[in-house]
Amino acid sequence: MNALNLQGVGHAYLGRTVLDGIDLAVATGEIVALVGPSGCGKSTLSHIAADLIEARAGRVLRGYRRHTMIFQEPALLPWATAEDNIAFSLKLAGVPRRQRAARIADTAARVALLPEDLRKFPVELSGGMKQRVAIARALAVHPDFIYFDEPFTALDVALRRRMQDLVIDTCAGGQLSGLFITHDLQEAARLADRIAVLDSHGKGVLGIRPLPSAPAERTDATNFDWVQSALASDPLFRHIHDVDERQIT
Ligand SMILES: Nc1ncnc2c1ncn2[C@@H]1O[C@H](COP(=O)(O)OP(=O)(O)O)[C@@H](O)[C@H]1O
Ligand SMILES: [Mg+2]
Repeated sequence: MNALNLQGVGHAYLGRTVLDGIDLAVATGEIVALVGPSGCGKSTLSHIAADLIEARAGRVLRGYRRHTMIFQEPALLPWATAEDNIAFSLKLAGVPRRQRAARIADTAARVALLPEDLRKFPVELSGGMKQRVAIARALAVHPDFIYFDEPFTALDVALRRRMQDLVIDTCAGGQLSGLFITHDLQEAARLADRIAVLDSHGKGVLGIRPLPSAPAERTDATNFDWVQSALASDPLFRHIHDVDERQIT
């Protein structure tokens, strides 16, 4: 069974249709990138898939055990230290108190957070550090599916690469599946096993393309060449950089 299966999903806000007839599947162990211009309904689709909002039409089938979400904004609790932010999500996930310290230490090490960072409050952390805490918080509950909603858009280029590497390494074992939303084709090509393009008005998935090999096996050169050739010769990507915001009609 697939980790995620969206069948004919549709949605409307205040009577205005924003998604229609969306079919998309994520196989177990696979990262699917979902690209499309701002306003085309990517976040709405992920919220439906993650059961935060209910679709107006269609079906969502989930084959995974536990998901977490990582957003563009780290969304940390400002009154809690980094460590307590992670602990809070473990508590919510029902992890017994005696196991929490070890889980926090383990995941903090994975995202290269030092013990002294864990004792800091969000206001004392840089943007990159905050996003690391948000990633640690998501990984600590041992998800087998992660929804990424443009998590690195606000980070500078170098940091963004490091965070992408972290995702690639974390997902390399094949135990984790995910839907990675981005409007950056280069980022999608680095992280994903397949790239799905959403119509700019949310009217269906226009097409899906597989990347040549697993993300961890690809080089920067392979990814760069893939993007160049996709932009030059694949009609699916022809309009990907055309529209920035949905037209108001
Ligand atoms: N809570 C909401 N109420 C009304 N309209 C919304 C709401 N959330 C999103 N929208 C609208 O739905 C469309 C899709 O939004 P969104 O899913 O956030 O797109 P994306 O993530 O691709 O930028 C946009 O036109 C947006 O303005
Ligand atoms: Mg969005």
